[in-house]
Amino acid sequence: MTAPKFVRNELNTYQTPDDVGRVSAALRAVGRKVALVPTMGALHDGHRELLRRAKRVPNTVVAASIFVNPLQFGENEDFDAYPRPLEDDLATLTEAGAEIAFVPKASDLFTEDAAVTVHPGPLGDELEGASRPGHFAGVLTIVAKLFNIVRPDYAFFGEKDYQQLVLIKKMVRDLDIGTRVIGVPTVREPDGLALSSRNVYLSPDQRVEALGLSEALSAGAKAGIHGAEAVLDAARGAVAKRPGVTVDYLDLRGTDLGPAPVDGEARLLIAARVGSTRLIDNVPVLLGAAAGYGPERER
Ligand code: PAF
Repeated sequence: MTAPKFVRNELNTYQTPDDVGRVSAALRAVGRKVALVPTMGALHDGHRELLRRAKRVPNTVVAASIFVNPLQFGENEDFDAYPRPLEDDLATLTEAGAEIAFVPKASDLFTEDAAVTVHPGPLGDELEGASRPGHFAGVLTIVAKLFNIVRPDYAFFGEKDYQQLVLIKKMVRDLDIGTRVIGVPTVREPDGLALSSRNVYLSPDQRVEALGLSEALSAGAKAGIHGAEAVLDAARGAVAKRPGVTVDYLDLRGTDLGPAPVDGEARLLIAARVGSTRLIDNVPVLLGAAAGYGPERER
């Protein structure tokens, strides 16, 4: 069977798994690589950075999926309210030089009796998973489906959703999926706020208070040379100055989200509510003597 039409250097939009799968297979058969940027739409500069990184890989066709995945939203979460500016998103993909947009409907992806999901293991119940039961099973299930449908050589995800990135890497390793997963550093506003599709929910006052997350993280990271307790104390102290921020968790872990090392690379993560909006953020931290090497840090 021939693949559906694909025009080079234009954005080609497909709705069904069959169509996008056949186009991807045809491109790979003639030696092109396929780089997938999975998204839920409402594209911002963070997504633009993922697309830009994907575009840099030689001989690669950039594909983006846009699908607000019901499986990863809890009952009282913002699935219905989640922004869906499809026309703007397609314009963003065109500007970024993506050549494939995969925009399925839920009925294109799931049969009514679909019941099998990907289990994230114990890390799926920690941090984000403790507040959002079932969230990571939902994420991993849709990402596994996208990987199986598109069969990308590479897939790009933001470090902003750090636990998601770690779990997707584990899934690819544990289930022998042949896609190389690449993490891209978080894009921030000039004042430090991490870009997120959910920032649109913040009122102007809440937007100011929301700086408490990045302020906590940068205060914590600067204390790395003094060890884990100092990092957490500094971060707690900084966020306490923002009464509009209610912390859900503030945690220091290893880069694989296991226990933080005494000395070496770690990750400081925060989740908090600002009004009714739940935001997350994280940064790398060098702990102990490891923090004494490299670029000069504040002590
Ligand atoms: O990070 C997101 O936007 C979503 O969790 C993802 C990876 C597209 C899965 O729905």
